Amino acid sequence: MPSFPSHRPRRLRRTAALRNLVRETHLAPSQLILPVFVREGKNLRRAVESMPGVNQTSVDEMLRDAEAAAKAKVGGIILFGVPDSKDAIGSSAWDENGAVQKGVQALKKEIPDLVAITDVCMCEYTDHGHCGVLKNGEVDNDATLKLLSRTALSHAAAGADIVAPSDMMDGRVRAIRCALDENDFAGVSILSYAAKYASAYYGPFREAAESAPKSGDRRGYQMDPGNADEALREVRADIDEGADAVMVKPAGPYLDVITRVKAETGYPVAAYQVSGEYAMICAAADRGWIDKDRVMMESLLGIRRAGADFIVSYFATDAARALASG
Ligand code: PBG
Ligand code: ZN
Repeated sequence: MPSFPSHRPRRLRRTAALRNLVRETHLAPSQLILPVFVREGKNLRRAVESMPGVNQTSVDEMLRDAEAAAKAKVGGIILFGVPDSKDAIGSSAWDENGAVQKGVQALKKEIPDLVAITDVCMCEYTDHGHCGVLKNGEVDNDATLKLLSRTALSHAAAGADIVAPSDMMDGRVRAIRCALDENDFAGVSILSYAAKYASAYYGPFREAAESAPKSGDRRGYQMDPGNADEALREVRADIDEGADAVMVKPAGPYLDVITRVKAETGYPVAAYQVSGEYAMICAAADRGWIDKDRVMMESLLGIRRAGADFIVSYFATDAARALASG
């Protein structure tokens, strides 16, 4: 007769070796994607105040950060543009000499093995800060599709491996897929920000990307935080339109959505640990209230455990280094 209690889960927790043997979820550097903010110019590195360690950089300086990430075996990089000039339709978004286009070209030349992803959206390029063109004060969905397609094409032409539309317009995945295929870019993948919530956690990003809407908010196109069934509909629509992988964003407050998307689609699922999630961890650690490295790793592992295959995170390089040093 076994003694009481018959199950002693603590037996497999007694040593690090035993714990390693039965760990269910693993995090690898190759599953991390580093976001970067690129501007025109040279030798430029401007700190983003609300995101310690994150900078706006010119392409040459961005390459230094990308090299450090690649050295730590980070899987990929996602580029956001901070243009010098903005207008009502965001026309600098598809400028072939724009910072993102130049940045991708440089990356594919210098570090071809690092997956190059581009964020496709209008909000960094429009003078009003919305993710599409305005008509009578509202974002005009169908008119925006043409601009997004044009932007995605310019990224593909620069050499992007993956384009990632984050605008939340309906039908953008099909529009972009058609534009890519018609222009000989059938091999360029689409990672759609499929379930992107209207979140207060994007605050610090809007400082980094200088992309806050001048009036109103994004609730007319981004998702309501209470909805999960709707996230599945968004995801299925994007997959039907040709998305190769889908993203849930933010990550930490939406782990249930990540789990459902993975379970119900079986598709590659990305999660974006957004600027506010990053800033909160940094701020609490700065006050000595939490251990930054441990919370960083635990937050990322939790996102993986929920079902994300890969994670976009401002911690990407730091976390990859921490993984390498055990
Ligand atoms: C732009 C975009 C945003 C983020 C990624 N792409 C901000 C927004 O929708 O306002 C947020 C990323 C972050 O907070 O780290 N469409
Ligand atoms: Zn946007």
